[in-house]
Amino acid sequence: MTKLAVLDLGSMGSALARCLLEAGYDVHVWNRTPGKSEALANAGAKVCTSADEAVGASNFAIVCIKSHKETVALVEELSTSLGGKTICDMSTGETSDADALVSILGERGAEYMLGMINAYPSGVGKEDTTILTVGNAGTWERYGDIIRVLGGKSANVGERPSALAALFAGLFTVRQGFMFGMIFGALVCQKAGISLQVFSDQLPATLKLVNDYHNLFARTVPAEDYDNAEASMKVYAMAQEDALKTFESLDAPAEFMQLMYKRTKAAWDEGFGDKQLTALVQHMADQ
Ligand SMILES: NC(=O)c1ccc[n+]([C@@H]2O[C@H](COP(=O)([O-])OP(=O)(O)OC[C@H]3O[C@@H](n4cnc5c(N)ncnc54)[C@H](OP(=O)(O)O)[C@@H]3O)[C@@H](O)[C@H]2O)c1
Repeated sequence: MTKLAVLDLGSMGSALARCLLEAGYDVHVWNRTPGKSEALANAGAKVCTSADEAVGASNFAIVCIKSHKETVALVEELSTSLGGKTICDMSTGETSDADALVSILGERGAEYMLGMINAYPSGVGKEDTTILTVGNAGTWERYGDIIRVLGGKSANVGERPSALAALFAGLFTVRQGFMFGMIFGALVCQKAGISLQVFSDQLPATLKLVNDYHNLFARTVPAEDYDNAEASMKVYAMAQEDALKTFESLDAPAEFMQLMYKRTKAAWDEGFGDKQLTALVQHMADQ
């Protein structure tokens, strides 16, 4: 059976270790500050007194520290052999640190897996929780079942360390785009004397359209099929131009709408006018 280790038992590391223990795995644990291991010892974990001991006792070691930077420092200090082991870093981090970690693990003969946990500690072990990982296909074949114990909807999204950071940036952009839409929308309404309460109350009705947007995106973008638009790029550009004039005439901050109009109009000018709005993915990628 796979021998597991969980290093760093903060809120998230403890939740991961506890979930694996409850699933019946043999789990070695280590934390820099020893007190945090006690609760897990009561749950059946084998408490180690050093990171070396925990990694040495396992073939799949999950690290859940502050960031990849601390994981790099921790790996650099290990004296146990890492040959044939897989180190799975679930800590958040930036791309350059992820690259540094993968590089040092390679030099030490270890396989890497990097994970992004899309949940709070209370969501660990739930059927609908997603942990996205990068690592080579063989590593996912060997250890993917363990990651799916931690999050039922988990998946490996590729090998490149930067893929996780890009996926985070992409999905964060979707959420933040919505938040910024509400912020700019509130400002133009306020300028016209509409109460923020009225604006806020109207949001659920407009939000229903977000599902239609997603359906259109999912139908057209992966297939790169942008023809037969029910509402074409030029129709959106004209509506955006009207909205932009409203922002400007009311002296409301207009950068968000300017950006949308600029991109849509440029695609229209370059022959995309009858295509779906989602054809902007293709138009902007080609630039
Ligand atoms: N909590 C969440 O909801 C959540 C969700 C998704 C992802 N994450 C990610 O999971 C990681 C851990 O988060 P957390 O919420 O568990 O944080 P936390 O409760 O603050 O725990 C941090 C852990 O890292 C250890 N640590 C920090 N610096 C260290 C160092 N230089 N050397 C050795 N150990 C060190 C701490 O050890 P000590 O006990 O000795 O201080 C502790 O075990 C972060 O990267 C976070 O972004 C968290």
